[in-house]
Amino acid sequence: MPITILIGAQWGDEGKGRVVDWMAASADIVARYAGGDNAGHTVALDGEVYKLHLIPSGILHSKVVSVMGNGMVINPDNLVREIQALRKIGVDISPERLVISSRAHIITPAHIALDKAKELALGDDKIGTTLRGIGPAYLDKTGRAGIRTGDMLLDVEEFAERLVAAIEMSNEELRAQGLDTLDALQAAQSYLQAADFLRPYIRDVSIYLYEALKAGKKVLCEGAQGTLLDIDHGSYPFVTSSSPTAGGALTGLGVGPLFVDNVLGVAKAFSTRVGGGPMPTELDGAIAEHFRGSGANFWDEFGTTTGRPRRCGWLDVVMLRYAVGVNGLSELMLTKMDILSGLDELKLATAYNIDGELFAFPPVTNEQLERAKPVYETLPGWSEDISNCRRFDDLPSAARDYIKRVAQLCDAPINMVSVGPERDQLVMNPAG
Ligand code: GDP
Ligand code: IMO
Ligand code: MG
Repeated sequence: MPITILIGAQWGDEGKGRVVDWMAASADIVARYAGGDNAGHTVALDGEVYKLHLIPSGILHSKVVSVMGNGMVINPDNLVREIQALRKIGVDISPERLVISSRAHIITPAHIALDKAKELALGDDKIGTTLRGIGPAYLDKTGRAGIRTGDMLLDVEEFAERLVAAIEMSNEELRAQGLDTLDALQAAQSYLQAADFLRPYIRDVSIYLYEALKAGKKVLCEGAQGTLLDIDHGSYPFVTSSSPTAGGALTGLGVGPLFVDNVLGVAKAFSTRVGGGPMPTELDGAIAEHFRGSGANFWDEFGTTTGRPRRCGWLDVVMLRYAVGVNGLSELMLTKMDILSGLDELKLATAYNIDGELFAFPPVTNEQLERAKPVYETLPGWSEDISNCRRFDDLPSAARDYIKRVAQLCDAPINMVSVGPERDQLVMNPAG
């Protein structure tokens, strides 16, 4: 800090939320900079499980201010619902503790309808989106046709007019596709109530952060999604519509690069992906089932937002190496190391073989990526339950070797791994 950027180094769901919750203890501000309620960040604390979609994952720390940046797309109804659900279970949320950018874009009900329509039209080639209206909202943003959270500060009639006009515009597209349109006035009603509720929270986030940074406050930027879902750097078009990578934190909050001290990448100790698109190390069968779990535990591999089973596979070092480069990671961390216990041997994909040629980094086209055959290195597994380990030396030597090898292959230090979902289930590696 002053700014630490935390990003997902894979396809999302790396355990970013739990790491942010832990790191927030030494931060003043936790700021989300991209995405919307397509994200699902799980924080487990003292037996309670919190699933956050829009609110930053530092919210359980009473001294931390949570910030939602201009890079986000916000569904006001869902945000109000999330705030109220958290308040109900005793989390204090007030304009002193939550700041929403006036420059974030608003997801309308018509964006959600369009997201569904587009997925339907793509048939077997669908992206597998979360159907939260993310793509259409960012499309209106870049098409200079969106409405923003700052518009909620206008008088009610003016905001209602803009909202209805935005929904009518999307209606034209729905109509063109022969689909049902929305009653714009009716769809706008709940948003007007949400605007009343959210108005006191909305302000200029860039200036708020600039002043906080100049006053010496520590800011932790919370990434959503992951590097390989990035609109520019992911496996396009099987990506989200925002910039989850480190650069996105600067544009998504309006802060300058000279404040950034660290960029921490969070990766799962194996690979998961939810939605369509290439995944070279994907597995079927017993190992995938081992990674995924039955669904009986909240940490099993079923989507936090959609409940969909996640695709699972061996750790893909080619993708991780790429994430280290694209984000300029100063450090990598591995989560869910405990899930590797009980496997006789573990595999790391160290390169891809594509038509006889070896690749250390992912190729550009999905056609090549679909043909990529992972080149595996096999390491011994371990049988011990490691969920109570707290120091690197407590881990079985095979687990230590796995961590060291990943760090070496990615050329990034690994100073921390997690061995369970609770806040304190972390193992520090002083050797790096
Ligand atoms: P995020 O989107 O990156 O915040 O990750 P999610 O919350 O969507 O998914 C990560 C899942 O793994 C959650 O259910 C976490 O509670 C769980 N989790 C995180 N770290 C660990 C760990 O070290 N061990 C286990 N067993 N579960 C973990
Ligand atoms: P967190 O923050 C995992 C995936 C979707 C789909 C693609 C596009 O919890 O890691 P979208 O609805 O964004 O247009 O979907 O991106 N996706 C995620 N996968 N974790 C996420 O968020 C995701 N957010 C979007 O499954 O493949
Ligand atoms: Mg998630």
